Amino acid sequence: MESTTCYRPTKAIINLEAIKENVKSLKEYVGNKTAVIAVVKADGYGHGDVEVARAAIEAGAEMVAVATPEEALRLRGAGIRTGILVLAPSPVSFVKKAARLEITLAVSEADWLEEALQEEKAFENPLKIHIKADCGMGRTGLRDKKALQMLMNVVARSEHVVVDGMFMQFSCADERDRNHTVEQYDRFMELVAVLKEKPRLLHVSNSAGALLYPEFAMDAVRVGIGLYGIAPSAYVEENLPFPLKKALTLETELSFVKHLEKGSTISYGSTYQSSEAEWIGTIPIGYADGLQRGLRGQGVLIAGERAPIVGTICMDQCMIKLPKEMNVGEKVTLIGKQGAEEVRVEEWAERLDTIAYEIPVLLTKRVPRVYSN
Ligand SMILES: Cc1ncc(COP(=O)(O)O)c(C=O)c1O
Repeated sequence: MESTTCYRPTKAIINLEAIKENVKSLKEYVGNKTAVIAVVKADGYGHGDVEVARAAIEAGAEMVAVATPEEALRLRGAGIRTGILVLAPSPVSFVKKAARLEITLAVSEADWLEEALQEEKAFENPLKIHIKADCGMGRTGLRDKKALQMLMNVVARSEHVVVDGMFMQFSCADERDRNHTVEQYDRFMELVAVLKEKPRLLHVSNSAGALLYPEFAMDAVRVGIGLYGIAPSAYVEENLPFPLKKALTLETELSFVKHLEKGSTISYGSTYQSSEAEWIGTIPIGYADGLQRGLRGQGVLIAGERAPIVGTICMDQCMIKLPKEMNVGEKVTLIGKQGAEEVRVEEWAERLDTIAYEIPVLLTKRVPRVYSN
């Protein structure tokens, strides 16, 4: 529940039970030889990193993954005891602390590791690493056998580093065409063949990979967007092996209601003019909350009906055209369900010409996250 009193009614309600069900369904689907790594970077894709991590672990996730040292430290600080993998490159200055707190780092460069191990005698625990390969994503990671061999030579000279895993990221697993994904997997396996000993965890799949390529599940899958009940793309959604449950609802209440005569203008730039006498409601949510200005015209739900956002969205508020006279305090659902009607994050994403990932991530801190079970 909320840690402080919230006077403003705008809130994101996160259904942790939905997250647990998504983890359980996924575990059942990939089978008990494959671990689930819950990806909770970017504050759990806007849903709350610590709360999502706890829910995912309770449902059976064996490990969590983040993008930055700071995100890993937040989770350890909150008492998360499972393995934590930092997916993006970390600075050498973080290594000693990572070893002490048993935070696993993604490593792909021999020079980086050599420098990181200069202080290895001062490590309180061995440094755990997952080797990061780049098999076609083109972002970070070693790209060939020579680079891998050089990295392994540094590992062999140290007594303070443990190669716990090796991974890469698919770039097109959410698309219909399977060629690039299969090619990436094959390149990964060619690299793995260089290793004298197989690390504990080989993992290649993100949500799209885990859902559409069970044959590439390997020792673990790294699942982000799927945890939150959102499919990585429309193609994946059409081919889901099991239903995903959406965790996010975005709600507020009418804060002001007025009756306008025909021809009245609304908001900055007077971009909306009433074409008849209309009931207009104001809601306390604006672009500083993550309701981007491009969402003008988007429907919200009120009393089980759709009502469009009219006029320019302001920083803290916006206006909606009501189907009839309504009272201040009436519940408004911006993302989620009311009766048979639903507004999905995918609908916002389409209007904004982006992907569904961006929608919860861009809800700002001003919107309190409230947890329900
Ligand atoms: C390396 C890595 N693994 C896994 C994920 C999770 O991806 P998804 O949210 O599509 O499941 C990400 C997210 O971008 C990532 O960067």
